Amino acid sequence: MTTRVFTGLKPTGQLQVGNYLGAIRPLLDLAADPDNDVLVCVADLHALTVEHNPSQLRELTLEMAATLVACELNPRATLFIQSSVAAEHTELSYLLESTATYGEMSRMVQFKEKAKAQGAGSTRLSLLTYPALMAADILAHQTEVVPVGDDQRQHLELTTTLARRFNTRYGHVFTVPQGVTPAETARIKDLREPTTKMGKTGSDGAGVIFLRDNPDDIAAKVRRAVTDSDTSLHYDPSSRPGVSNLATLLGALTGMTPEQALVGLTGSGQLKQAVTVALVDTLGPIQKRYQDLRADPGHLRDLLIAGRDFASASAATTVAAAREAIGLLDLA
Ligand code: AMP
Ligand code: TRP
Repeated sequence: MTTRVFTGLKPTGQLQVGNYLGAIRPLLDLAADPDNDVLVCVADLHALTVEHNPSQLRELTLEMAATLVACELNPRATLFIQSSVAAEHTELSYLLESTATYGEMSRMVQFKEKAKAQGAGSTRLSLLTYPALMAADILAHQTEVVPVGDDQRQHLELTTTLARRFNTRYGHVFTVPQGVTPAETARIKDLREPTTKMGKTGSDGAGVIFLRDNPDDIAAKVRRAVTDSDTSLHYDPSSRPGVSNLATLLGALTGMTPEQALVGLTGSGQLKQAVTVALVDTLGPIQKRYQDLRADPGHLRDLLIAGRDFASASAATTVAAAREAIGLLDLA
C-alpha cells in the first residue's frame, strides 16, 4: 500500500533559491519515494486571496508548474493546476464551509495578520474562507500525509478538525490527514541583508538568487553578498550572519552542514567562489530543462491535462460521497 501525499504551492512570486531548498527539494524527495503516491497542485485559486495581476498570475502558475517538472519531480507524481479542478475542489470547499464556523475561520492567524495589515475594506472574502478550500484540496483526495511549513500548520489542524466533524456528523467520508514537517530545512537569508529571510517582499532583489538568474548574475550577486572584516571563516549566525548564511547555502546545495561546508576554505572570497559554483551547478541543469519545457508548451500542457484528469476523477468520488452524506439530492 502506498501513502497518499498531497501538497499545494502558491504561485505568488518569482521562485528563488530559498523556495527551492525549503519547499521544492523536500517535495522532490517525498515524490522520489516509491512508497508515496504524491499529488501536487499549483494553488492559483489561493493566489486570488490577495491583490494580484491576472497576466502575471498566469505566468507564475506556468512558471511554478514548469519549474517542478524541470526539477525532475518524479513523473509518477500527479501535477495539476488547482483551478483546473475548481468544479470539484470549490464544491467540496462549500460543503466544508458549511461544516466550519465563522469563529474558527476568523481565528486563523494568517487571516488576522493579513486582514489587519490590509484593513477590512481591502481584505478579500476569499482570504477568510481559503482554509476551507485548502481543506477541500487535501480531503478531496483521501490524503494521508501533508508536508507543511510552519505558516500552514494551523490550516492543516483546521482541516483535520473539519474532516473529523464531518465524519462524525454525517458518516465516514474523509481520511483524516496528518501533517509532516519536512526534515529541518535551512532558512536561507537575503545575501544583502543576512538577518532577513531571502524572498521577503520589500527587498530590491539584489540579495535574492532567483531560479532563473544566469551564471553572471549569480556570480555578481554572490560577490556583493554582505560578509564582515574578519578574515577567518566560522559558522556563527548571531555574530557573523553574512558568512554563516553563505555557509548554510553552500551546505544545503552540496548536502553538508554549514560547518562542513566551510572546511578547506579560507577567506570570504573563496567561500563566495564555492557558493557561486554550487549555485550554477545546481541551477544550470534545471534552467536548461526549464527552457526546453517552455519552448514546447504543448508538452507541458499535456502533462497538466493528464494531471487535471487524474485529480478530477479522484476528487469526484469523494465529492459524490460528501454530497450524499450531507443530504443533497442526487437526481442521476
Ligand atoms: P513563500 O512563497 O515565501 O510563502 O514560500 C513558500 C515556501 O518556500 C515556504 O513555506 C518555505 O518552505 C520555502 N521558503 C521560502 N523562502 C525560503 C527561505 N529563504 N529559506 C528556506 N525556505 C524558504
Ligand atoms: N495554502 C498553501 C499556501 O498558501 C498552499 C496550498 C493550497 C496547500 N492547497 C494546499 C498546502 C494543500 C498544503 C495542502 O502556501
